[in-house]
Amino acid sequence: MYSSKIAGIGHYVPKNVYTNNDLSRFMETSDEWIQERTGIKERRFADRYEETTTTMGIEAAKVAIERAGITKDDIDFIIFATLSPDYYFPGCGVLLQREMQMKEVGALDIRNQCSGFVYALSVADQFIKTGMYKNILVVGSEKHSFAMDFETRSRNVSVIFGDGAGAAVLQRATKEGQGILSTHLHSDGADAEILAMHYPGAHANKWLKDKPAFPDQELGGLFITADQIESGAALPYMDGPAVFKKAVVKFPEVINEALAANSYTAKDIDLLVPHQANLRISQYVQQLLGLPDDKVFNNIQKYGNTTAASVPIALSEAWEAGKVKEGDLICLAAFGSGFTWASALIKW
Ligand code: ACO
Repeated sequence: MYSSKIAGIGHYVPKNVYTNNDLSRFMETSDEWIQERTGIKERRFADRYEETTTTMGIEAAKVAIERAGITKDDIDFIIFATLSPDYYFPGCGVLLQREMQMKEVGALDIRNQCSGFVYALSVADQFIKTGMYKNILVVGSEKHSFAMDFETRSRNVSVIFGDGAGAAVLQRATKEGQGILSTHLHSDGADAEILAMHYPGAHANKWLKDKPAFPDQELGGLFITADQIESGAALPYMDGPAVFKKAVVKFPEVINEALAANSYTAKDIDLLVPHQANLRISQYVQQLLGLPDDKVFNNIQKYGNTTAASVPIALSEAWEAGKVKEGDLICLAAFGSGFTWASALIKW
């Protein structure tokens, strides 16, 4: 059995910067409220017309491929994690394959929201371990700005999220003890609806049985109806306090699981790269694990929460800053909608 390593990591963030004060032009909010609750100062929003989740993913992929010292023709599998795909279907993986003019390799899309990238990394790790593929491109990319509502009614959601992309190339590790040591994946669907976008979807019979959403007919229906759009039901929904409570339990749990599986303790971590959900969540986890500031990487202040893109963007920035060096013990951890949560422990 081979182990896999991250041979190249890259990221892309759009040029348009929106500060907290900029958001207060659209809704009743303030820089003070946002910074105090989330740590976010500004975020990037993609160009409305020119950029998509796929195009941002491509920019990040180009950097990761170059840093891995290969070309796009060496990629033999694509895994694309996003909750904001260009189309409802097909997924972004095939669009990336087409736009980058890659060979006719397999493309898999992953819909695991904030933990999507760590899940994708775990899938890629299995394919490298078995020897099925040699150079897997793993992408996490989000264009949240297009589906969010910038009115006061959605301010608890729309001040948190930003756009961007990150990517990694996974290859077989060449040194003994190097690479991804283990990955740990979990889910609990009991609260699936409390951090979710309920429409469009195929569940309208369950959610709308008392509402005249469908014509009275035996077959067929609509994934989305005009009244769902008008009422705001087709917007992202989040019960923030409930998410917070669960996240601060599951983050440390899955990090400790990864450490225990490899006979390490928190003291051995050189850098924790958590999903950038909320600075308060990361600080709480840091405190629980007893980690000093320089062992936890945070960049939510600049980018907001970029969901599936947040871990690879943070890892790429940490690598560029010289905080991820050969031999370091790096822990990636994520928690998000589903709920799903995951970790990966890497000997770089
Ligand atoms: N600006 C000003 N006021 C606001 C805003 C805003 N952007 N958003 C909400 N408020 C108001 C509310 O209307 C409410 O007012 P009221 O008391 O008059 O009704 C008040 O602030 C408190 O609202 P809550 O939603 O209870 O705010 P809370 O203090 O819980 O903070 C937050 C909200 C920041 C979302 C918090 O719950 C949180 O951090 N939750 C974790 C969720 C999270 O991090 N999600 C990230 C995505 S999921 C993931 O990545 C894991």
